[in-house]
Amino acid sequence: MLKLDNHLSGRHFLHIPGPSPVPSRVLRSISYQTIDHRGPEFGAFGLQVLEGIQKIFQTKQPVIVYSASGTGAWEGALVNVLNSGDKVLFYETGQFANLWRALAKRIGLEPEVIGKVGQDTWRWGIDADLIEERLLKDTQHEIKAVCVVHNETSTGVTSNIAAVRKAIDAAKHPALLLVDSVSGLGAAEYRHDQWGADVTISGSQKGLMLPPGIGFNALSPRAIEVSKGIKTPKSYWAWDEILESNKTGYWPTTPSTNLMYGLHEAMDMMLTEGLDTVFARHQRLAEACRHAALAWGLENQCLDAECYSPVLTCISVPEGMDADLLRKHALEKFNLSLGTGLGKIKGKAFRIGHLGDCNELSLMAALSGVEMSLGAMGFKPKASGVVAAQEFLK
Ligand SMILES: Cc1ncc(COP(=O)(O)O)c(C=O)c1O
Repeated sequence: MLKLDNHLSGRHFLHIPGPSPVPSRVLRSISYQTIDHRGPEFGAFGLQVLEGIQKIFQTKQPVIVYSASGTGAWEGALVNVLNSGDKVLFYETGQFANLWRALAKRIGLEPEVIGKVGQDTWRWGIDADLIEERLLKDTQHEIKAVCVVHNETSTGVTSNIAAVRKAIDAAKHPALLLVDSVSGLGAAEYRHDQWGADVTISGSQKGLMLPPGIGFNALSPRAIEVSKGIKTPKSYWAWDEILESNKTGYWPTTPSTNLMYGLHEAMDMMLTEGLDTVFARHQRLAEACRHAALAWGLENQCLDAECYSPVLTCISVPEGMDADLLRKHALEKFNLSLGTGLGKIKGKAFRIGHLGDCNELSLMAALSGVEMSLGAMGFKPKASGVVAAQEFLK
């Protein structure tokens, strides 16, 4: 058998911001025997999954379930509502906004990027006024979509999506609103219908507490309408055949049967707990993590208190320290996985995920591992972050 565990005894502490730890209940359900995806049992099960996922997105509209990672779901969204050469507005919030924009370019769209001049946009939430200003200037309505990241996983910054919708409406602009909530959904509050998203993209391996392998597109009536006139060649990603098949709980291709068992179980757990309780639980762990960072005297990558992510905290290390050496130490010595700094903050920051099957004590273990690893790097904290987090949580 493939040996992925290292030599250390005890459990591995997976505190990257996704893939997140999977609850045992979910793992067990994934191990149920695979059934015929065209048989009678599957249709009833498929309908339950499709109904459950609408509740998670807080939408009454259809949700497309792809066998794909988040990147596939990004592409699925773009090819269904945009034609080659269309102008698309991206707001630069971090590495994932940039990667999505690069994908858009590769498939023949014309992305334009905006961000507040003079501000390090990787440290702040989206300024919706800038989107409104840009759309007001687009009097010919050449911009066909506004693409934004709800929870920027590279920085730990969560943006206000309702404000982006308001900005588009205030500019009386017909651009569609496409939102990446790959790492937000299921952990940070997200309301697809109420916030007026046209397509919300997500994935299984973050707040939904599943292994990677499922990607989602939640739709709006307008997105479905627009998709009918789009000429971009596509087959696997095309919504029309999937929507047709989904009416009876089936898929045109082979769905990820066993991951869907897990999705069914994870949604049951989340809906039983109540989404608002789930969101509050993540907020609390995030706040504990911020108390720790503050006590250590380390800076949060997010500078806007309104936008602190409930999903992960990205912490900058002091000048002269290599954040990846700290992570290496935490992994080798304490069996703790921390997220690496991505893109322009590589080596300068590390990320602590507080999502998935995680609770106060697993977070405390991670914070202890960080504190000991900081010590091993020669860092003298202002105070104990572990004690500060304990004080907050007790
Ligand atoms: C915000 C965000 N968008 C998109 C992606 C890409 O998803 P995937 O790696 O599943 O393709 C990720 C992955 O971490 C992400 O965090």
